[in-house]
Amino acid sequence: MQALAANKVHDEARQGEAFAPFANDENTYSKKFYIESYGCQMNFSDSEIVASILQSGGFGATRNYEEADLVLLNTCSIREKAEQTVRKRLTEFRKIKEAKPGLLVGVLGCMAERLKSKFLEEEKLVDIVVGPDAYRTLPVLIEEAETGQKSVNVLLSREETYADISPVRLDSNGVTAFVSIMRGCNNMCSFCVVPFTRGRERSRDAHSIIAEAQDLFNRGYKEVTLLGQNVDSYYWAPPLNPLSRGGKEEAVTFAKLLEMVAQVSPELRVRFSTSHPKDITDEVLLTMARYDNICNYIHLPLQSGSTRVLQLMNRTYTREWYAAKVNRIREIIPDCGISSDIIAGFCTESEEDHAGTLSMMESSAYDMSYMFFYSERPGTLAARRYKDDVPEEVKKRRLKEIVELQNRLSYQSNKQDVGKTFNVLIEGNSKRSEADWMGRNSQNKVIVFPKGSYNYKKGDYVLVKVNDFTQATLIGEMVK
Ligand code: SAH
Ligand code: SF4
Ligand code: F3S
Repeated sequence: MQALAANKVHDEARQGEAFAPFANDENTYSKKFYIESYGCQMNFSDSEIVASILQSGGFGATRNYEEADLVLLNTCSIREKAEQTVRKRLTEFRKIKEAKPGLLVGVLGCMAERLKSKFLEEEKLVDIVVGPDAYRTLPVLIEEAETGQKSVNVLLSREETYADISPVRLDSNGVTAFVSIMRGCNNMCSFCVVPFTRGRERSRDAHSIIAEAQDLFNRGYKEVTLLGQNVDSYYWAPPLNPLSRGGKEEAVTFAKLLEMVAQVSPELRVRFSTSHPKDITDEVLLTMARYDNICNYIHLPLQSGSTRVLQLMNRTYTREWYAAKVNRIREIIPDCGISSDIIAGFCTESEEDHAGTLSMMESSAYDMSYMFFYSERPGTLAARRYKDDVPEEVKKRRLKEIVELQNRLSYQSNKQDVGKTFNVLIEGNSKRSEADWMGRNSQNKVIVFPKGSYNYKKGDYVLVKVNDFTQATLIGEMVK
């Protein structure tokens, strides 16, 4: 993933595109696939699982769609704009398909799950539609599509975690990687489509997670981000048969899992996303404080600063409860970076509610936020129960105020870092200049600094003193 820019209004949850790697043994695979990913980190991580399944099915990855036999879009439904982006991209592929008969186009992910076979009626040139829990059936679906049939599998599962699949790292920097620890969501926030597109929550076998982290570390990776819609409700109980894992074994909570991953090596950084404020426990915070290699950074989406709106959103916490959680984080981990997601203009939101959001942002002093205006999603609780009654220009004005405030908060947060020295993991060259390194501190801030005459490389840890900053980047120099 690209650096997460601070202060940006994101049209999709975590924007970007994942491309398949160049490095392929041309002779191993007779056919090629090209994949683009939209939406959140889970989708990017899923594309790596899909790549693995396709390789076993005889398809090699290509970055160039012109040489592909199969084009896949891994899609997002979180806001209407996210779906529009995908529709636009599909129109472009329609032209390419017309010029190249035999090319198969498949739609994966949340939009596939939401629209199901309707997708084939609406987008006639799509051949394959596959939901997030059905990726194992891709090779069979492709075979069907090759005979000219349209193929669809959007069955959701209560068990699928792809635990045994070893992801093919796409577009990797070789230093940081995502590890999916759970799937689905049971929370039912009233604005959110995810419970419908991703199904029930289920946790992945803890041993397979540790094995994946260990394998990444053995291959030179230095940072893993544990992914789930609500990581703090991770809970994995070993199989009932006591013989299957050699006797008594305790259930694994998220705090325990964090500790197990942190123990892979002190040289392996651990991050996680996303935490629901209602579920993050003291035990998690204390585990973070105990291990230097668990990064001091929490993404803790607020959504709204009005208790009344939070109730309509079904977030299950109040404004005061959230504020107490932020205080607790700062008490246990004083230098913790905190970021948020904010929705402007949810149903019935008044000016007073909006002012409550601004004041909560201020008191939480977020380092960064993802900010959106409310987009009604068909089938969600809010779409069924409430009227989307805040006029678009009001939503936009409130969003603008939220963004401006976050810009100010990010400025203050960056300014406070000037003069401080951080342990930075080098991720690669800076985007602007090959003479500079780009890395991140524990708080997830991007730091750029000159390589100088030292012989460091990607994946090394270095101490960097901050001298200056721009909107989304700290600027510094290495210190001995
Ligand atoms: N599971 C994560 C969020 C996943 S979606 C969590 O609970 O934090 C990422 C963000 O998109 C949400 O936090 C929310 O701020 C935003 N979002 C979700 N549905 C939305 C909608 N209908 N309109 C606008 N923003 C939405
Ligand atoms: Fe959506 Fe809420 Fe689940 Fe996050 S916790 S995925 S916002 S329902
Ligand atoms: Fe989008 Fe699905 Fe993620 S709706 S935000 S890709 S879980």
